[in-house]
Amino acid sequence: MKKLWKNCHIATMQNGQYSSIEHAAMVTSGQHIHWIGTFDDVPADAYSETIDLNGAWVTPGLIDCHTHSVFGGNRSVEFEKRLQGVSYAEIAASGGGIASTVRATREASEQQLLASALKRLRCLLKDGVTTIEIKSGYGLDYANERKMLRVIRQIAETLPMTVRSTCLAAHALPPEYQDQSDAYIEYICNDMLPKLHQEGLVDAVDAFCEYLAFSPAQVERVFKTAQSLNLPIKLHAEQLSSLGGSSLAARYQALSADHLEFMTEEDVKAMAAAGTVAVLLPGAFYFLRETQYPPLQSLQQHGVRIALSSDLNPGTSPALSLRLMMNMGSTLFRLTPEQTLAAVTLHAAHALGLQDTHGSLEQGKVADFVAWDIEHPSEIVYWLGGDLPKRIIQHGNEISI
Ligand code: NIG
Ligand code: FE
Repeated sequence: MKKLWKNCHIATMQNGQYSSIEHAAMVTSGQHIHWIGTFDDVPADAYSETIDLNGAWVTPGLIDCHTHSVFGGNRSVEFEKRLQGVSYAEIAASGGGIASTVRATREASEQQLLASALKRLRCLLKDGVTTIEIKSGYGLDYANERKMLRVIRQIAETLPMTVRSTCLAAHALPPEYQDQSDAYIEYICNDMLPKLHQEGLVDAVDAFCEYLAFSPAQVERVFKTAQSLNLPIKLHAEQLSSLGGSSLAARYQALSADHLEFMTEEDVKAMAAAGTVAVLLPGAFYFLRETQYPPLQSLQQHGVRIALSSDLNPGTSPALSLRLMMNMGSTLFRLTPEQTLAAVTLHAAHALGLQDTHGSLEQGKVADFVAWDIEHPSEIVYWLGGDLPKRIIQHGNEISI
């Protein structure tokens, strides 16, 4: 059952960077791309359907590779406090911050968590996101991390999206382990993570390497456990201070290190050598009114792949639009629109280990794409918010949005 998609231009992202074909067409066969090229070269074949895209620009489905989109409650009250001058670190130290979302998440049922997450994720879906990563990390004990990860699996069954789950048990210290952070890390490594993995709930492992969370030595303990379970690694690193977490992540061949405002030249070189993707999170940068910029020039000079993501979470980035993040990636971090598009497709796929199947439009890859009713691809980055007219195709089928 082959479908011919015609009358379009395609930003393919072939050959590992932004690239495009004008006056293009694509043939899909089931869930996959069977052929892609210029309309003049369309293979003569029998098509079950021919779809006219009316001159749209087609991109790969967008990939949001770093989110905390499952959580209880919200933190708008803290937002107001921060506007009055109280810092994120001060709020965390006084029992707010991640700890307050942990309380609300523990109180919520699976059904409640699923319902609230779906509302947020539908916004991302409408924005053209067809693949998403979602982290646990607001449960911080076996039962509640499991609850979050089960909700993430249910999201995958509910929405027309590819969903990857990441266990972020090492996000913050739960109240039961106050002043015993090493003991909590041992609990994660000896008990929680192996069990959750055994239940098939974990696709990758992440941790928060920061002075107000876990030390590089503690993170390394988590990485060793992840490695022994054959689970890929990611890391929140260098968001508020420079601890060398991104170099540590690179030493363990992490898929990505994320945030990175305070990374050093040494960290950049280590990530370049390891092929670890730099995931930049302009929503958190903006929302915390950060002034320290990630070292864009150095990352580019050393050839580190740069991805962008929403970091959708209740504390530092309540971002419901990946397109808005793309605009911020260009406006705040000076990425070109082409680099920005690659950051939420090609490079985001690498950050999830999905580069063989997702992130670009080429023969054999999954047929996830968005047909945007725009005149030029840079418009996807240019418009601030709103709902750009588009058609979304997931696994070869148009979805209703
Ligand atoms: O990616 N940095 C740590 N984790 C989240 C924030 C989580 C929260 O404040 O609830 C982040 O910014
Ligand atoms: Fe995060």
